[in-house]
Amino acid sequence: MKIIEEKLINGIWALPSFPVVLVTVGHNIMTAAAFHFYSFKPPSVMVGIIYDNYTNQLINEYNEFGINIPTTDQIEIVRICGSVSGREGVDKYSLAGITPVSGVKIKSSLIKDCRLNLECEVVHKVDYPGSHQWFIGEVKAVHKDENYSREQALMFWGREYRKVGEFLERA
Ligand SMILES: Cc1cc2nc3c(=O)[nH]c(=O)nc-3n(C[C@H](O)[C@H](O)[C@H](O)COP(=O)(O)O)c2cc1C
Repeated sequence: MKIIEEKLINGIWALPSFPVVLVTVGHNIMTAAAFHFYSFKPPSVMVGIIYDNYTNQLINEYNEFGINIPTTDQIEIVRICGSVSGREGVDKYSLAGITPVSGVKIKSSLIKDCRLNLECEVVHKVDYPGSHQWFIGEVKAVHKDENYSREQALMFWGREYRKVGEFLERA
């Protein structure tokens, strides 16, 4: 039996998990679960950033961002970058014990410790003033470790961290 949810937001909280990413802009890092691919051609992704976060200000200044994919063993990095703001000058690379590396197409740093990094240039912005500002980023460069596998990624939603689910069959 299904019930009609009185609170529509509960439909959003009931959604399956999303991959957690580390968004890098300038020398700052921020954890985000509001992330998805947007287009195959040109390859593009989208990330939703709350207006009050320092990263929002930085993306609007730089017009670019890096997407760094953490693995399940990097959950502490995800927690740190998702609980401390860089606005007052905190260096989250030092705090989390990780290493910045220069991008080839963007000025912002990427996280050397992550096995997959996408360098993105902002091509569209979508405003949802009550929630997030969405940035559509066209992928300009990709750095992929030969040992990277998407099974190692970390998922998050509804205050739960999860692993990627079991493989079922090829489509
Ligand atoms: C698991 C997790 C997921 C998060 N997802 C988002 C997100 O999608 N968008 C967002 O704006 N903030 C998200 N946050 C909160 C920011 O990471 C957090 O507010 C951070 O301290 C902002 O840093 P900044 O002020 O340096 O940008 C998330 C935090 C955690 C722990």
